[in-house]
Amino acid sequence: EDDQCEGNTMTSASSQQQPSDSGRPVLTNRQGHVVYDNQNQRSVGARGPATLENYQFLEKISHFDRERIPERVVHARGATAFGYFEAYGTVGDEPVAKFTRAKLFQEKGKRTDVAVRFSTVAGGRDSSEVARDPRGFAVKFYTEDGNWDLVGNNLGVFFIRDAIKFPDLIHSQKPDPVTFERQDPNRVFDFISQTPEALHMVTLVFSPRGIPASYRTQQGFGVNTYKWVNQAGDTVLVKYHWSPKSGVRSHTAADAANVQANDLGSHTRDLYQAIERGEYPEWELKVQLMDDHDHPELDFDPLDDTKAWPEELFPLRAVGRMVLDRAPENFFLENEQIAFGTGVLVDGLDFSDDKMLVGRTFSYSDTQRYRVGPNYLQLPVNAPRTRVATNQRDGQMAYGVDLGEGQNPHVNYEPSILGGLREGEYPAHDEQGPELTGRLTRKRIPRTNDYAQPGERFRLSQEWERDDLVANLVDALGQCDRPVQERMVWHLLMAEDELGLRVGEGLGISPDDVRHLEPLPTQRLSDEEKARAANLG
Ligand code: HEM
Repeated sequence: EDDQCEGNTMTSASSQQQPSDSGRPVLTNRQGHVVYDNQNQRSVGARGPATLENYQFLEKISHFDRERIPERVVHARGATAFGYFEAYGTVGDEPVAKFTRAKLFQEKGKRTDVAVRFSTVAGGRDSSEVARDPRGFAVKFYTEDGNWDLVGNNLGVFFIRDAIKFPDLIHSQKPDPVTFERQDPNRVFDFISQTPEALHMVTLVFSPRGIPASYRTQQGFGVNTYKWVNQAGDTVLVKYHWSPKSGVRSHTAADAANVQANDLGSHTRDLYQAIERGEYPEWELKVQLMDDHDHPELDFDPLDDTKAWPEELFPLRAVGRMVLDRAPENFFLENEQIAFGTGVLVDGLDFSDDKMLVGRTFSYSDTQRYRVGPNYLQLPVNAPRTRVATNQRDGQMAYGVDLGEGQNPHVNYEPSILGGLREGEYPAHDEQGPELTGRLTRKRIPRTNDYAQPGERFRLSQEWERDDLVANLVDALGQCDRPVQERMVWHLLMAEDELGLRVGEGLGISPDDVRHLEPLPTQRLSDEEKARAANLG
């Protein structure tokens, strides 16, 4: 008799609702069948072979076998929190409507729900959160016009300016494909030494800001250049900045080593514990604005994400603040499955021709269809809080049908006169886009100017920051092959004598050792840069 008491056919609704003796809820399987024995598989006699029709066991183990989805190809380790954005209604001391019609910014005090995911970049899902690495700072605004994602980082610039180089950059920072050694400096700097536009980002990643003390004490930046569009259809270029109310704090390499000796998840814990204590992290959102053209008067291209916009010329203007007051209820649902992308803009916000931005915009939703599934936008954390009415149907894990109110459910196409969806009213201002002409080509942008901003950043740093940068670079480059070291010293000397001389000294490389190096084949130096190369050091 013992052999026949399996519970996989017990399905009466009333038996499912019965509380157990102790008052705890009763375990069921996913079909709603009550589980009577969660300790023993069904087998022929107490010691006999298991049977294949044991649905309860097979369902449990096969769901477990599928618990993991692919981790993000970058930014795998991260933590999400929720809260709100509150608009000031102004940008600096002007009404925000002068520059953008985006509804979330217009009224003073208007609140929009947000989800924010902070992350490291290169490590896997369980890697150290105090690694020297940029940090991701991705914000999803659930606005009344649908979602807006601002997918940024904590450093304000990036390693490369063309999306076609992203897989190479990331491969160089991911584990060695043979040994799986993580972030091998020789591979990292092999790529960087051949990629002069990375120098600005490198001077930030290896500075104290390369290891934030917590997610709460890091800045955020949109990094890429976007546009704002006002009611008349006029556009301006815009860059976004998040400033933490609690100030910016970083770890030294030694602090970080101590933290990660005991704890790989210090940032996530810090974030959730602060929220639990009621110390809600807060950032102010500021923007820099620029007239929408190519600005030949500047020594950099406004669409080049390896450059910061000088704040003296393009002052920071506050537009609102963001408060995070809720941790996820479930890490997988709200952190692993949340999906951000640079293509997710609302009316009043627009793209620029930044060559990184277009590539990113394809990449995010592409990876999410693979990583989460083609219906990832139906998941509650990703779905907009507004009306959604599409003719998209089916696909893996379709959870609902995006029927418009009153839509004839038979009509999943457009146009139709049988009660299907219709197009919205065409906004007149969309006729005012720029007129573009040009030859189809593959060309680097003319104003690369890869050395001026890293050099200036070094000169403007405080002494302890310079010491830290030099020490971190010497430490990492010390683990690289000599030709990689020499090329890096050459770049650093091109940016700033003191930086190149001090790092060179730490590596035993003088300007004389590198002066013979030709510019890289991918580089076109300006006359000024050529003169500098001829007199290095
Ligand atoms: C995540 C691609 C540049 C910030 C990702 C993901 C991909 C990707 C495929 C994984 C997304 C997912 O699985 O949900 C790219 C490409 C880039 C690029 C192709 C260059 C062309 C950047 C830049 C920034 C950035 C410049 C910073 C401004 C982020 C952040 C995440 C992310 C914050 C994590 C989002 C999250 O928390 O879910 N990127 N990325 N990426 N990227 Fe990029």
